[in-house]
This record gives sequence, structure tokens and C-alpha cells, in this order.
Amino acid sequence: MGCQERIKLVSVIICLTIVIWFLHNWLYLTFQFKTYITHVPVNNRLKKNEAWIITSISSRPHQIQDLEQRTDWSVLILNSTNMCRPFASSTLEDLILKAIKNGARYMYLSSHLNNKTTSILNRFYYHKYMTGLRYNGTMNFTLLSYYRGLPNLSAKGNTSSYSYELGVWKTALLQKVLGPTDISNGKDSIDYRAPQILLPFNTMEPMLKDNVLFQYEAFWAIVPLQTNQRLWSLWVQRLLQEIGNSVSFIVSKDNDKQSGCKALKESTRVITAVNGWKCSRRSTFFSCVISLSDFMVDKKMMPRSEYRSIVRWLEILQKHGYSQPELVDKATGRYSLEPAHRILFYPSIKKAYASRNFTFMCTKGLGKCLKPLGLQKSKVINNILLVIVFNRAGHYGSLEYFEKIYRPAFRHILYCGQDNQTFVEGYNQLKYPVSYVGMSSSFINGQLGYQCLHKAMLMHYDVDGYFHVGDDVLLNVWNLHDLPTDQIWFQERMRVANVSQPTVPDIWKHENWWPWNGDTGRFAQERAMNTLQNLSTREDLVATFLDQLAENAGGERKVFYESSDIFYIPQRFVSQFIYLVNVFTDQLVHIEITVPTIINGLSKQSNIVRLKGSYLWYEERVKYRETFNHSNVFLHPVKMDPCLENQTCVTFLCEKYLPCL
Ligand SMILES: *[C@@H]1O[C@H](CO)[C@@H](O)[C@H](O)[C@H]1NC(C)=O
Ligand SMILES: *[C@@H]1O[C@H](CO)[C@@H](O)[C@H](O)[C@H]1NC(C)=O
Ligand SMILES: *[C@@H]1O[C@H](CO)[C@@H](O)[C@H](O)[C@H]1NC(C)=O
Ligand SMILES: *[C@@H]1O[C@H](CO)[C@@H](O)[C@H](O)[C@H]1NC(C)=O
Ligand SMILES: *[C@@H]1O[C@H](CO)[C@@H](O)[C@H](O)[C@H]1NC(C)=O
Ligand SMILES: *[C@@H]1O[C@H](CO)[C@@H](O)[C@H](O)[C@H]1NC(C)=O
Ligand SMILES: *[C@@H]1O[C@H](CO)[C@@H](O)[C@H](O)[C@H]1NC(C)=O
Ligand SMILES: *[C@@H]1O[C@H](CO)[C@@H](O)[C@H](O)[C@H]1NC(C)=O
Ligand SMILES: *[C@@H]1O[C@H](CO)[C@@H](O)[C@H](O)[C@H]1NC(C)=O
Ligand SMILES: *[C@@H]1O[C@H](CO)[C@@H](O)[C@H](O)[C@H]1NC(C)=O
Ligand SMILES: *[C@@H]1O[C@H](CO)[C@@H](O)[C@H](O)[C@H]1NC(C)=O
Ligand SMILES: *[C@@H]1O[C@H](CO)[C@@H](O)[C@H](O)[C@H]1NC(C)=O
Repeated sequence: MGCQERIKLVSVIICLTIVIWFLHNWLYLTFQFKTYITHVPVNNRLKKNEAWIITSISSRPHQIQDLEQRTDWSVLILNSTNMCRPFASSTLEDLILKAIKNGARYMYLSSHLNNKTTSILNRFYYHKYMTGLRYNGTMNFTLLSYYRGLPNLSAKGNTSSYSYELGVWKTALLQKVLGPTDISNGKDSIDYRAPQILLPFNTMEPMLKDNVLFQYEAFWAIVPLQTNQRLWSLWVQRLLQEIGNSVSFIVSKDNDKQSGCKALKESTRVITAVNGWKCSRRSTFFSCVISLSDFMVDKKMMPRSEYRSIVRWLEILQKHGYSQPELVDKATGRYSLEPAHRILFYPSIKKAYASRNFTFMCTKGLGKCLKPLGLQKSKVINNILLVIVFNRAGHYGSLEYFEKIYRPAFRHILYCGQDNQTFVEGYNQLKYPVSYVGMSSSFINGQLGYQCLHKAMLMHYDVDGYFHVGDDVLLNVWNLHDLPTDQIWFQERMRVANVSQPTVPDIWKHENWWPWNGDTGRFAQERAMNTLQNLSTREDLVATFLDQLAENAGGERKVFYESSDIFYIPQRFVSQFIYLVNVFTDQLVHIEITVPTIINGLSKQSNIVRLKGSYLWYEERVKYRETFNHSNVFLHPVKMDPCLENQTCVTFLCEKYLPCL
């Protein structure tokens, strides 16, 4: 063959290739975009919106309508009948581009909307930053062991096995809801109310591509690898690391029938392989996406065709004006943006519940409960978090007693106080691990006791509310069941003071309540109120707060003060509470001003539930036996650690209180 002929032949081949390629693309696109344009946006209206849900036709129309009416979310429906891989459909691309064109900042992929979807949407973080737990302990972390108890009880003696960082992180670009379909076995032993969790930095877990919230910077990840979800989840998690991000997880007991789809297995081999990749050409983020995909083709994890689809999809995205995330130094994802707090966490798993066996202290047995007729027996309260606050260090010797009293009544308990060392001594006497937040000396013996609830809220449990109970409160748990969990609870009294009043009367009989003129009193409170006054010009939350406070107090520049050893904040006030507590913490304001003042700015006073109970002061403290009343909710103070050392006190508990539990 001559040289010219060869050139001709090559030209013909090139031409043919080009023609075939165009033909293929034309057929492909026609097939893809013409035949399957079957998705119909609900009500056929596409408005500009930040928040989009993509669901499949297995969602009931009434659920979709309900959601669109009651929330700000717009819904797009994918015509996919593939139960186990609901988002494996070529029309997915089209829906995503539509949402992007209409201003999407968040997309929630959920194949099956139901009456829990709204509450799940409310649990996600939408701001730039999130707070939450990240495992920082010494064991190998897995999600399932987190929800079931990590690690097993044999590691109980070493608290570092249960150690987490409570920090402020850049919000996870993927927030995944684990449901029964994600969990292969042991669904019943899961703590469905455990706090949201971030994986330890540089680790990954396989997950299904369903019930995931994507932030704008992760929209590139929605479409690829539709048919291999395990591979998809490792691919996306490895790439998130390149932008200093990771996935966060919540767990939800779905109320739908089991779909029969297989949960993903752990896949150490693939994880190890993916971990072996380095983004060598770190010019743009998309070049890293292409590099990892190429690497996975080389390692025979994915076919070349997937690689081509990914490249094509990235091009389409860019053509439609999507801007890819910026590469950052990978290590930025590792550290909390504010100093992290070390937390011990252990989920509430059933086998660990203590029994109500008081033979260790009531050697003569229990008395007979003299509860008036009509009072209920204690039931299990599993929708609120009980936070037991030790205002002074060194009273943790009674942990076992608290476990016996409270664990059968409350599934979710968090201990909080100063002095980690003595906590561990009490902890070591228990048979199972418990959750604990340690406070520094800035806790000032409980004068800043509201920090405990604050920390608990930052952990982000899935509960209806947070219940602060001091370790010197004798709680009649049998009277708690009918209390509304969506309202604030406080004691019956609440007194008002002018912000600049020189002295205020004691909670007991004295003219002068000593904390008012102490470091955490009048001047601290005045500084906090001035800060709020300033903030109110630009923060609606604060303006509303000050208005409500003035209404409840009967005038402006007034605060409340009262003993605050027992109070409850429902979930719906959590974000305001966190915001306001930060202001009072900055000025070191006493708990007995902070709590009654904050709650009176959050809710009309008539909507605050008043708990019946007795407070005993000074020399009246010894009268606890006469004052105890089965019909009340609480009695304060009965400090447990000294009480358990005193035979008179123990006899009182064994005869009057314990038999009623
Ligand atoms: C969904 O797609 C199928 C073909 O796969 C078609 O038969 C059906 O009519 C479509 N449904 C809707 C609601 O568009
Ligand atoms: C939600 O739906 C389930 C059935 O799918 C039903 O059992 C449950 O009562 C519903 N809950 C509410 C609050 O409507
Ligand atoms: C954690 O996993 C690694 C590798 O899989 C293993 O070598 C190590 O022993 C494990 N550590 C613990 C504490 O289980
Ligand atoms: C608990 O975990 C340890 C290692 O982490 C293991 O050796 C032991 O067998 C486990 N015990 C049970 C009861 O699972
Ligand atoms: C706890 O476990 C870690 C790692 O397994 C070990 O390094 C440490 O010494 C242990 N601490 C105690 C007090 O046993
Ligand atoms: C997390 O673990 C590291 C290494 O063990 C430790 O240096 C750091 O103090 C821990 N963070 C917290 C908040 O405990
Ligand atoms: C209660 O605990 C004691 C030991 O403290 C034990 O002897 C007794 O059998 C237990 N009773 C019940 C009912 O479990
Ligand atoms: C222990 O105490 C310090 C404050 O002194 C605190 O920062 C830390 O998070 C505490 N918690 C634990 C579990 O160690
Ligand atoms: C509180 O302030 C009001 C008016 O702002 C004033 O009339 C009243 O006397 C003050 N009360 C005390 C105890 O200072
Ligand atoms: C409130 O704002 C004024 C004027 O901007 C400023 O002088 C004052 O220091 C602020 N006070 C507080 C407590 O932030
Ligand atoms: C035990 O408590 C009673 C009543 O509060 C008190 O009178 C008594 O002195 C206490 N006993 C001891 C040993 O502290
Ligand atoms: C106990 O409290 C109830 C209502 O809270 C009250 O009616 C009753 O008189 C009290 N009993 C005693 C002995 O004080």
C-alpha cells in the first residue's frame, strides 16, 4: 500500500467513526430525552426555589401534595419503577438540570415520601456550619456499632473507646438518612434517637443512594454510577475528602413496608483500594473526579462506559452553568472550627437497662406506695432527653442509684458536670457505659448550669425536647406522663426584677438575694440585656424575644429570676435557646436569671407548663420528709450523694419514694 492510500484509508476510518459517534449520540439522546419525558412536576408549575425533592412514582400523590402545601419544598417526580435502585434512570439528569435552572441549593433524593418526610427535612442542617459528634475514640468506628453500642461491653472500662468530639463543622454536603432498608440485620437494637454523626475523618461507609440531602456543592454526585450504589457511595465519599468534607448520618425508623431490597455489605477491599488513590492533577475539582473515575476503571472496579458517562455528565453540568466546588487543603475537614468538646456517648440499647432492684440499699425491703388513687404508674419516656446536672464536682458516687431510678423511666440520659476524673470513678462502678458531657471550671459550680442543655442540643438528638434535672431534685417520674412535650416546663414561681435594680429579695425570706450582687448577677445580666438590645435591631429572633419578655414581665428592661433546677425546653425552641444562651454565657449570667428570662422571651407565660413542687431553703432543708408529696412533680433539694450516706434519708427513700416508681 502506498503512502497516499494509507492516508485515505485512515481518513475514511476517522470519518466513519465520527459519523457513527454522531449517530450514536443522536439515537442515544433521542431515546433518552424523547421517549422518557414522562416526569410531570406537581401542579405543572416550576417556580424558582432553593429546595427541591426528587422522588419516584412510588410516592403517593396525596403525600406529595401535602408536602408541597405544608413546606417550601418543590417536588419533581422520576418515572422509575425500579424499587431497589429508584434513582437508576436516565431521566434523572433532566430533572436535576431543571432544578438547577430554577435556583436549587438543596436536593433531597427520596424514592418514597411519607408522613415522616417533613420531620426528616426539619432535622437537616441548611446553614454553612453544623454542630455535632464525630468519633474520636480508639476503636474502629462503624455506623452500625455507633447506633447499637460501640464497641461491645468488654471495652467499657476504657472510656476512650466512647470518646467523641462535639464540634462545629462545615455542613456535610451529603446528609444521609439511614432507614431499615440500609440496615441488614439487628434493626431492633438500633437507637433511633441517637445524635447525628459524622464519620471519623478519612473513613467511609457504604450507603444506598436514597434519602440523601445534597447541597449545591455536591450536585455533581447525584447522577453517576446509578447501577452500583456501593461503588457510588465510596466514590463520592472519597471525592468529598478532596474538598474537606464528609457525609453525616441520621437514622430514622421508616413507617413503610419493607421493600425487600438488599442492604449494602461492608466492603473493606474496595475501601482499601479507593483509599489508595491520590488526586495527582489537582487543578480543578472536576479533574479529580475524572482522575478517581479513571483510577477505578484501571483497578477494574467500574467499566469504561461509566467513566465516559461521568465525563459527559460533568460537561453537561458545566454547560448549564453549574459551578464546581473549590479544592481545599484536605486537612481542613479534620478539625472543628471552634475548640471541640470531648463527650462520652453510648446509645440507649435495651439489654443495658438497669433493673429496679434496690436490695443493695433497702435492706429491710420497700415500703408500700401511698400514692393517691388516680396517679399513674411510671411508663417509659422515650421521646425526651433527660440531662442530669451535677452542679458540684464529686457527687458521682450516686451514679448507680440514678441509673436504677431513671433508666427504666427514661431511655435517653446524658450526665453533665465538672471534674471528669471523679465522674470516671462513679462510671467504673456501672455495668455498662453511659453518656457524659464534662464541664470546665467556667461552669462555676452550676451557676452556668444551662451549658449542659446547650451542649446536649448541639449534639442534635432526635427528641421532642431536653429536660434539665439537678442531681438534688427528687423527681416523681410517675407524674410526668401527661405533660405536653411541645411546651416549656418550669416551676410555679417566677419573679421579675428591673435590669438596673440594686438589690432583689431572696428566693427565701431575705431582702437580698446574694447572686444578684455577685459576679454572675446584676451587672452580668445588664451586659447581656444590652447586647440583646443591640442585636435586636438586626436579628428578628432577638426583637421577638425582647417583645415577648416585656409582655410577660409587664414592661421593658426587666428580667426574671427564680431557682432553675428543673426545666424543659421543647425541640421547637432549640435554635432560639442555643442563640440566646450564647449571649448569656458570654456574660457569665447566673442560671437562675438566665433560664427564667429566656423562657419568658420564648413563650407566652400562660403557655409555660408550671410543675408542682417544693423548694426548701436553708434550715428548712431538713424537712424533706414532711414536704414530700406524691401529687407533686418534684422536691428540691434532696442531694443524693449525702442522702445515700444517711440512714434517715435512706429509710425515707425506701419507705416513701422508691416503692412508687
Ligand atoms: C412511566 O414510564 C413507563 C415506561 O417505562 C410508561 O409506560 C408509563 O406510562 C410512564 N408513567 C407515567 C406516569 O408517565
Ligand atoms: C403515618 O403513616 C403510617 C402508615 O404508613 C400510619 O401508621 C401512621 O399512623 C401515620 N402517622 C401519622 C402521624 O399520620
Ligand atoms: C482496626 O482495624 C484494623 C484494620 O482493619 C485492624 O488492624 C485493627 O486491629 C483494628 N483495631 C481494633 C481496635 O479493633
Ligand atoms: C467484644 O469485642 C472484642 C474486641 O473488640 C472481641 O474480642 C469480643 O469477642 C467481643 N465480645 C462480644 C461478646 O462480642
Ligand atoms: C484504652 O485503649 C487504648 C487503645 O486501645 C489504649 O491505648 C489505652 O492505653 C487504653 N487506656 C486504658 C486506661 O486502658
Ligand atoms: C481527639 O483525639 C486526639 C487524639 O487522641 C486528641 O489529641 C484530642 O484531644 C481529641 N479531641 C478531643 C476533643 O477530645
Ligand atoms: C436484687 O439484687 C440482689 C443483689 O444485690 C440479688 O441478690 C437479688 O436476687 C436481686 N433481686 C432480683 C429480683 O433481681
Ligand atoms: C473533661 O474536662 C474538660 C474541661 O476541664 C473538658 O474540656 C472535656 O471535654 C471534659 N470531658 C471529658 C469527657 O473528658
Ligand atoms: C422598676 O422600674 C419601674 C419603672 O421602670 C419603677 O417604677 C420601679 O420603681 C422600679 N422598681 C424597683 C424595685 O426598682
Ligand atoms: C451597643 O451598641 C452601641 C452603639 O453601637 C455600642 O456603643 C455599645 O457598646 C453596644 N453595647 C453592647 C453591650 O454591645
Ligand atoms: C441524717 O439526716 C437527718 C435528717 O436530715 C439528720 O437529723 C441527721 O443528723 C443526719 N445524720 C447524719 C449522720 O448526718
Ligand atoms: C399534696 O399536693 C396536692 C396538690 O399538689 C395538694 O392538694 C395536697 O394538699 C398536698 N398534700 C399535702 C399533705 O400537703
